[in-house]
Amino acid sequence: MEILINVLVLVHLIGMACIVGGWIALRARGVESGRGLSVVVWGARFQILTGLALVGIHESQNDPLNHAKVGVKLTVALACAAAAEMAAAKARKGSGDSNLIDYAGVLGILNTAIAALWETS
Ligand code: HEM
Repeated sequence: MEILINVLVLVHLIGMACIVGGWIALRARGVESGRGLSVVVWGARFQILTGLALVGIHESQNDPLNHAKVGVKLTVALACAAAAEMAAAKARKGSGDSNLIDYAGVLGILNTAIAALWETS
């Protein structure tokens, strides 16, 4: 189970890199169109999936997590994914919205800060 947790954490970290790195790359290029935005969208989707899987495995191992922290992270991750999905939907219609892309990137950084700075137990 240890190896599964380690692999999931690795994918979780790559998902975080896709959100934050994808956002920085888009903003550096001044892009509001759809190109490159799917990296952020898929990163946000994977964070929810891998995060919930990590919670499930930890709980099944009787390894208690900080539930307040998990709840806050899930809320922030859902808002991040919603912003990325809306930005992509608008870009597909030809009306790019850089504010929505910024929300997704900043919420990704916020969740990274919560993961790193909030005590686990
Ligand atoms: C934008 C979304 C997210 C970002 C950027 C993010 C970021 C991170 C990072 C950087 C870590 C590693 C921290 C460390 O090992 O010290 C981490 C760990 C973790 N995250 Fe997330 N996360 C996100 C969403 C979620 C969600 C939605 C959940 C669950 C509902 C979740 C649950 C966890 C758990 C349980 C760990 C600990 C893994 C372990 O040490 O075994 N995360 N997250």
